[in-house]
Amino acid sequence: MKLFIDSGNLRDIESLVPLGIIDGVTTNPSLLAKESGDPRALIKKICEVVQGPVSAEVVATTWEEMVNEGRELAKIDEHVVIKVPFTRDGVRATRVLASEGYRVNVTLVFTPAQALIAAKVGAAYVSPFVGRLDDVATEGMHLIRQIVEIYDAHEFPTEILVASVRGPMHIVEAARMGADVCTCPPAVIEACLKHPLTDIGLAKFLQDWEKAQAARV
Ligand code: G3P
Repeated sequence: MKLFIDSGNLRDIESLVPLGIIDGVTTNPSLLAKESGDPRALIKKICEVVQGPVSAEVVATTWEEMVNEGRELAKIDEHVVIKVPFTRDGVRATRVLASEGYRVNVTLVFTPAQALIAAKVGAAYVSPFVGRLDDVATEGMHLIRQIVEIYDAHEFPTEILVASVRGPMHIVEAARMGADVCTCPPAVIEACLKHPLTDIGLAKFLQDWEKAQAARV
């Protein structure tokens, strides 16, 4: 399973990429609104750092404008994936962009029916929002299981990109279910890199080693 960073923060991205575990980045208008400077320049820098798929979302709401904006976003860098919200217009825009050879990430997906439609119009990625479903007392990961079942049964090439991730267990469950990608806030990836038993175990190893060295002199 691929791991993407769900962030527009260049410093966080630059800190995680050297670990060699990051395959791409997703952004959205809310994430980019938190950062200063020109959003297009920021997307370009993120593409240069990550050298993998970087989702940049359209803010237009009619299909014609989404298509035009998507084409412009794709000019920023070859790694840009055009992110389009799942609306009636978004579905139509996805079909047009996909038929022109662009990679589209259909976002704000909350039902298996939406995921089926996204795959039918040629989305490269579908982004089900698991955390936001959990927030309204609905099992977010159940949606992932349903989409995996549908895509496997019909051999859709659309990649399932688990989004709105809240903690390490979303990553573990996504991997167990066979999702293609999990996009995570930097803090969630950092949480996977730490374990108190590892820290305690290492401290003991080093302490024992030092004691043994001291006894030898
Ligand atoms: O980028 C889309 C998604 O991951 C947003 O997550 O935490 O705002 O629900 P969140």
